[in-house]
Amino acid sequence: IPVDPFDLVVFGGTGDLARRKILPALFRRFCAGQMEEGTRIIGAARSDMDDAEYRAFVAEALIEFNGDHSGCEPGTITRFQQILSYVTLDARGDKGWGELAAKMHPGRVRAFYFSVGPSLFGDLALRLHQHGMADHDTRIVVEKPFGRDLASARALNKALADHFDESQIYRIDHYLGKETVQNLMALRFGNMLFEPLWNSHYVDHIQITVAETVGVGGRGDYYDRAGAMRDMVQNHLMQLLCLIAMEPPAKFDPDAVRDEKLKVIRALGEVDPAQIVRGQYLEDEDKPGYLEHVENPKSLTESFIALKLHVINWRWAGTPFYVRTGKRLKARTSEIAVVFKEAPHNIFDQDSGRHRNILTIRLQPNEGIDLDVTIKEPGPGGMRLVDVPLDMTFTEALGPDAEDVPDAYERLIMDVVRGNQTLFMRGDEVEAAWAWTDPIVAAWEEREDKPLSYETGSSGPDEALALMHKDGRKWRDIRA
Ligand code: BG6
Repeated sequence: IPVDPFDLVVFGGTGDLARRKILPALFRRFCAGQMEEGTRIIGAARSDMDDAEYRAFVAEALIEFNGDHSGCEPGTITRFQQILSYVTLDARGDKGWGELAAKMHPGRVRAFYFSVGPSLFGDLALRLHQHGMADHDTRIVVEKPFGRDLASARALNKALADHFDESQIYRIDHYLGKETVQNLMALRFGNMLFEPLWNSHYVDHIQITVAETVGVGGRGDYYDRAGAMRDMVQNHLMQLLCLIAMEPPAKFDPDAVRDEKLKVIRALGEVDPAQIVRGQYLEDEDKPGYLEHVENPKSLTESFIALKLHVINWRWAGTPFYVRTGKRLKARTSEIAVVFKEAPHNIFDQDSGRHRNILTIRLQPNEGIDLDVTIKEPGPGGMRLVDVPLDMTFTEALGPDAEDVPDAYERLIMDVVRGNQTLFMRGDEVEAAWAWTDPIVAAWEEREDKPLSYETGSSGPDEALALMHKDGRKWRDIRA
């Protein structure tokens, strides 16, 4: 469905995120016919460029990063270029702001995407206000990292709140824009089958894995100051955990959903340091190990983390959540497994195995849902049981429509324009997530905990496997 014409400004319009994600996402929505005639996209950054140069710059990025998007007709890039313009701007001075203000169309939705480091958030918010661009039609979009601890996140929230209402602030966590992540809510709250069992009486434990094969790439500087806990757990894995653990909201509306997520974060218990395993990847043939990658031989930052958490509330007390994420692992795969308890009594004497139903939600790749069900092993050998998956791969179940879904950025940017905050983090949620993260990080920083090494292509340090083994449980295999 097309949306009314809007003005979208990308601060940091020449940066990496703009090239890789934001501009290609906007282009694909343009291709899909979602932008009405008159929509304007304005790049703003420090570099001196004119409109023609920026249009050429964007076309190059689209060719490099758009992937296989065969849906677009030839010539679409040229048409898209017509809606682009550029302003050279100084975030901390006056240069460019008058020009930018003059480009705005009164009465329209205008969105300002802060695709810049968080140290500039406050400056940008202030200038927008000073130049008359901070009225009720304005929405601002900010990216992670949203701070590096509770104090810095609070300061950022305050800098934004000085000029904007919470209803105007869209904090992106791109995991919330992923199709299957939203399917978590459909699965839980659209079916009768699961919800009655979704609690500690029936669920033995829950596993969340986000495994990557890439290393830290060109982001060594940032990453070494963050680590897997701040880069992934505090935000992406936390959001997955919230969607799995939250109570049913009364409505699918932004504050109803976010209120429930916030309660989950606030119910997280302290984590025992003995229930945390941190790792760093080793070099592999021609690929540098973590320490070389970040050019810091003394680094104590983790590129892998596994931890056991508890959501201490009526529904979940007693059911642990095991989460892990890391770089340079065996396969790129993200999944959530809800492992149910065994049946209370075994009536099949010939069967001595342990059987559990496991509901696995595969977030990426090969999106879908599996439910392991116990049945009789075929043949005459009596009642011996075997576990088989009921496998629903979305592309098979839903056909080609399931392949051509908008990516996370496409969906989230259009949600900003439509004014729907459901898939964005509220300020109090982010602060609560940091409030839980801070003492965990402080504890290992204080004792100068050194991460363990792990091989590239492995499942992380063996100790991470032991984290579950010692509880008589087992991680699911990391496989694509
Ligand atoms: C980003 C992290 O937020 O998410 C990266 O900063 C990580 O370190 C990325 O690689 C993973 O996203 P995706 O969509 O590839 O799973």
